[in-house]
Amino acid sequence: AAETGLDGWLRYATLPCSTQCRSQLPVNIIALNSTEASPVYVAGSEIQIALNNIYNVNASIALNQCNSSSSVIVGTIEQYRQTCGSTVGIPELDEDGFWLSTRGSKIQILGQNERGALYGAFEYLSMLARGNFSQVAYSTNPSAPLRWVNQWDNMDGSIERGYGGESIFFKNGAIVDDLTRVRQYARLLASVRINTVVVNNVNANATLLTPQNIDGLGRIADVFRPYGVKIGISLNFATPETLGGLDAYDPLNATVVKWWSNMTDQIYQRVPDMAGYLVKADSEGEPGPQVYNRTLAEGANLFARAIKPHGGIVMFRAFVYNQLNESNWEADRAKAAVNFFKPLDGKFDDNVVVQIKYGPIHFQVREPTSPLFANLFKTNIAIELEVTQEYLGQQSHLVYLPPLWKTVLDFDLRVDHKPSLVRDIVTGKRFNRTLGGSAAVVNVGTNNTWLGSHLSMSNLYAYGRLAWDPTADAQGILQDWIQLTFGLDRAVLDTITNMSMQSWPAYESYSGNLGIQTLTDILYTHYGPNPASQDNNGWGQWTRAGPKSIGMDRTIQNGTGYTGQYPEEIASKYENIQSTPDDLLLWFHHVNYTHRLHSGKTVIQHFYDAHYSGAELAQGFLDQWESLRGKIDDERYAHIRHRLDYQTGHSIVWRDAINNFYYNLSRISDTAGRVGHH
Ligand code: GCU
Repeated sequence: AAETGLDGWLRYATLPCSTQCRSQLPVNIIALNSTEASPVYVAGSEIQIALNNIYNVNASIALNQCNSSSSVIVGTIEQYRQTCGSTVGIPELDEDGFWLSTRGSKIQILGQNERGALYGAFEYLSMLARGNFSQVAYSTNPSAPLRWVNQWDNMDGSIERGYGGESIFFKNGAIVDDLTRVRQYARLLASVRINTVVVNNVNANATLLTPQNIDGLGRIADVFRPYGVKIGISLNFATPETLGGLDAYDPLNATVVKWWSNMTDQIYQRVPDMAGYLVKADSEGEPGPQVYNRTLAEGANLFARAIKPHGGIVMFRAFVYNQLNESNWEADRAKAAVNFFKPLDGKFDDNVVVQIKYGPIHFQVREPTSPLFANLFKTNIAIELEVTQEYLGQQSHLVYLPPLWKTVLDFDLRVDHKPSLVRDIVTGKRFNRTLGGSAAVVNVGTNNTWLGSHLSMSNLYAYGRLAWDPTADAQGILQDWIQLTFGLDRAVLDTITNMSMQSWPAYESYSGNLGIQTLTDILYTHYGPNPASQDNNGWGQWTRAGPKSIGMDRTIQNGTGYTGQYPEEIASKYENIQSTPDDLLLWFHHVNYTHRLHSGKTVIQHFYDAHYSGAELAQGFLDQWESLRGKIDDERYAHIRHRLDYQTGHSIVWRDAINNFYYNLSRISDTAGRVGHH
């Protein structure tokens, strides 16, 4: 399994160990819960496997010999107090938090709950697997309670925007029999402290809720539970009609309300600890409350009330918009979320969380921060990120995403002229909300690499780390992942760091720069260059590219008025072309191709230059990778080499397609003589 990638960053590859190192390896594992399906027991076995694989130590698992020397003890604070005595000196922990102390070969791993204990065990093993024997004693707590992943898996086994094979959950309309891959996924998620997985597509199919499938969901939940991962499910708003046989699905209709509450009771009978529902309504053809002239809040609260008695929550998506007409200069899809949700602030029940994509359109290579983060003060919110590289090369291009995510998480929205970092808004700190956090669309599949490419797993790993601590450093996280995945060789570390950190800038440069959006085909595949597909349709991802000029004017003065959705300081920064950063120029302004950027270049020349330099960077990845031949096992070396070889060629396809398209429109030649006629 190690070479195929199924273990991801949990390979526990063998490392050398000196006498000094040996003296710090515990020979006893004390797990404070003997129930096999408990996270603490799982933690004990995980430690046993890791010690064996990495350092060839045969540690035995004991259940309550608190005082043995040379031991790693793992459990909750409470279990420790009951079995072993005093916990003096250990700070108070938040839910899911843990305490880790390593003193020679005496290791203490204590969680606030069993989930936290398991997280602590993985933290300790991550140190061992990187040959790190520092003496530490610290506690760590999550930045927010919601650390979710979303799978867009369909009941027929396909995955919407999935590039790593078929679903590990579903096949032929039902839950698969063999859940081995689900258990392996649970292990990976737990190791990066993800506590909930939504198993089915937001474009949900009502047949998920047949009795047979509810039982299947129960089986899935049983597999995740020992890893401290809860499940959630996406609902289709029209289910009472399409599956239940009612003649309506109006959220205020008493029969509909009763139907959902009965259905929820049935689900909880089989999955008593289900985390909650995820709902996409009134968006892209999905049914919703607006069909009955009810508000989105009334729609969300329908589920919130059904699930409240069970302690569940509702993640309600802010991704709601209508098709628009491009001939209207003021039409703007980017304005939709604030228009729909701002008036509803304060109308959502307290167990509803509005799940907001990082940008106002949809996971583009660069977008400004969604202004909705600065418009909800009495509503719980979470940020939605996308690990699956839908618009970003679909795992056939290397793109390490955290630097992109950081442009949003670290963005200061200056609400009321006060520091208002997005990361502090989503964790609930800024507006004093107790419920908040993040969700990421992941879409792993049955492929042995999970996502379709070994290198793209850095994004899943980093997502978990950032959900726990959004202040963590993108490169630091990456380097931990590289060592865990590919070993401790210095050249391997430096090379993959370098490639990964260059990868998002490279992709932005050869796809869509200056804030024009990704320029992929938006109509069908969301893959490969197709700048023409952005305009002349109702999807509202327009570039308004013409023979003389390009860009969306989103100013209040002369455009769609989108800038006015931001707090004053941000609005005036983007309203004014002088203070708009070059990398978002065409997002906010419509300018001539000859307009001069802050950099001094014209817009068109920047396009030409960036597409050449971006493609060149990507071509360099292949050479860099080839320098690692022999330092990485052949299977993974060859798999990645193949992907990078493809990317090299495809970056040139991108470069030429985009440059020729804008040359043909503008008829302005490249000053360096590469594009156009000379
Ligand atoms: C995009 C994406 C769809 C997805 C939707 C969503 O439109 O292409 O596949 O269903 O976003 O996030 O709901």
